[in-house]
Parts: sequence; C-alpha cells; structure tokens
Amino acid sequence: MIVVPVELPGRPYDVVIGAGTRHELAPVVTGLAGVEHAALVTQGSVADAGWLAGLDPGVPFEVDLIEPGEGAKSFATVEELCRRFARRGMSRADVVVAVGGGVVSDVAGFAAATYHRGVRYVNVATTLLAQVDAAVGGKTGVNLPEGKNLLGALWQPEAVLCDTETLRTLDEREWRCGRGEMAKYAFLGEGPPDASLLELEVADQVARCVGIKAAVVAMDEAETGRRMVLNYGHTLAHALEAGAFGRPGDLAHGEAVAIGLLFAALLARRLGRIDDARVDLHREVVVGFGLDPRLPAGSDPEALVVAMGRDKKARHDLTFVLDGPRGVEPVHGVAVGDVVATLAEMETVR
Ligand code: GLY
Repeated sequence: MIVVPVELPGRPYDVVIGAGTRHELAPVVTGLAGVEHAALVTQGSVADAGWLAGLDPGVPFEVDLIEPGEGAKSFATVEELCRRFARRGMSRADVVVAVGGGVVSDVAGFAAATYHRGVRYVNVATTLLAQVDAAVGGKTGVNLPEGKNLLGALWQPEAVLCDTETLRTLDEREWRCGRGEMAKYAFLGEGPPDASLLELEVADQVARCVGIKAAVVAMDEAETGRRMVLNYGHTLAHALEAGAFGRPGDLAHGEAVAIGLLFAALLARRLGRIDDARVDLHREVVVGFGLDPRLPAGSDPEALVVAMGRDKKARHDLTFVLDGPRGVEPVHGVAVGDVVATLAEMETVR
C-alpha cells in the first residue's frame, strides 16, 4: 500500500493506493467524529463489476445509484441525490462515499459540498482516470449545456482510496482515458517527458501522478496560479467534450486531453515558446501513452473558440496552459487568430 499525503494547510488528507484499498473504507469513515450514516453514491457498472460486494463503510449506509455516462454530471443529478439525503434525514455529521470514476466523484463531491452547506466525503476511486486525477484535489462539479465543469465547488475529501484491484474490470477505452491524463503528468514532473511511467507497476504509476498533483494542489488549492498547470491540454479538451455531451461513443475526457496536449504544443510553437523538437516530443509522448492526437473529423473551429472562451481559466479572453522556456504555465490573452490557425494546423496532423 502506498500513501501519498495531500498536505493542505490545516486539513491534510491521504491518498491510499494499492490492491484492496477499498477495504480501508471502514477505518476511514469510523475515524470521522460523529458519523452515524453513510450515503454510498455509485453507478450500476461498479455494482455489476462486483466492487460493492463486501464494501463496508463501518456505519449503516444506503446505496445511491446515478445514471451512467457524462450526461449524469448534471445539476439534476445533484438535486436528486440531495433530495434523497434529505428524505433519509441525513445530517451534517454524516458522510458521502463516492465509489466510481470521475463522474461519480465530481457529482457526489458536489452534492457533499452543497448538502447542508457541506458534509464530509470520501472517494473510493475505481478508474485509472479518477485515481490519477479526478478523485484527488477537491474539484467537484457538474456540466452545463454551455460547457464542461462550469458549476462546482472546491471541496476536499477526507481521504481517497485508489484500489488498483478495481482497474481489472476496466475496458481498453477506460484505460486509454486514464492514460490521457497520465500523458499530461509527463510534462509536469521532473526529468524529460516520456512514456516510461507505463513501465512501472500500476500502483506506482498512480502514485507518481498523485504525488505530482498533491504537490501542486497543496501549493495552490484555489487555482489562483500554479494549479492551472493541471489543466494542461484541457482547454481544447473541454471544448471538444462540450460538443460531445449526450452523444455516447463520442470523445471521452482522456482522449480529448491527448488531442489538447498536441494542440497546446502547436500553439506554443506558433507563439515562439517552444521549437519543433519539443512539438515532436509531445506527439511521441501522446502516442507512447497509446492515444490518438488527431482532431476529430467535423470539428467546428468557430464553436471550439467560443467554448474555449468560456473556460474557467479565461479572464474574458483566451487563456491556455502552454509549454515554454520556464516549463508549463498559464498564458493569458492569446489571440483568436493564433488559435484558429493552430486548429487549422491540427487538421493536417496525420
Ligand atoms: N484536474 C485538474 C485539477 O484538479 O486541478
């Protein structure tokens, strides 16, 4: 078992990584003062895969199923969850346990952040994407038709349990999605970016990514500056996903991040921040993580620019996280013409 602390001033918590760590749930929950009841929020796929069998929060609990897919990341789902909590008389001292991938931790975390103005929650992360990114760092929220993650709260979990056993039932696409986020970390860690992370044991892969994220979150929880680097590749990614809501089979988050990483590299080159070799390195890393960096056919540049202008990093402008001489950093005020030209360049990527 590997424990990575997230050292937030005044309220640190642990990310516990390894096979079977979901069974650490009872000691975590019963260690929280005053808890009498848990709401275990999850999806049918997690139950069907058998990961709820024997899962014990150590206090009486109810299971709250939410719908599958990104479409469940809606305010309606949060309202429904909170209404169920209220009907059951859940108190401010009780706990929400999110068992699943990023959709579950985002939605359940947001419900926890808002129910009774905030109840405690624990993430049991069952997908690679949730383990390396979504379940850690306290970003919770839902989508609006106008864009991804536009509604939410920063609300830190009491603990995150990343059970590598649960990765056994992921399909190839879910692995790829997790690797999309992992490719991002290749540019945020120490040493030259490459895909060698994949050579480690899976628990060590997760721990490496979580370690990078934990350090950034501890430094800038509220994303006033440094934390924006965790959004590397995400500005275009979120815009692409915004066009894909509710259309099952369209681009998933990690796949979109992979495209966003190459786009960010091409934009950084256009702005004179990096050279051709560094662009090639981005392509190699993305492909090395098993991802396709090409823009999907039929992408609408105008709609993408509008969606990117709604990104949370933007200050009434176009803001990107870009590589450069000082490494990866936020860059505000990028000209629309450069973005449109880079999107056109993306069309030529083979
Ligand atoms: N997924 C980016 C962040 O947590 O800041």
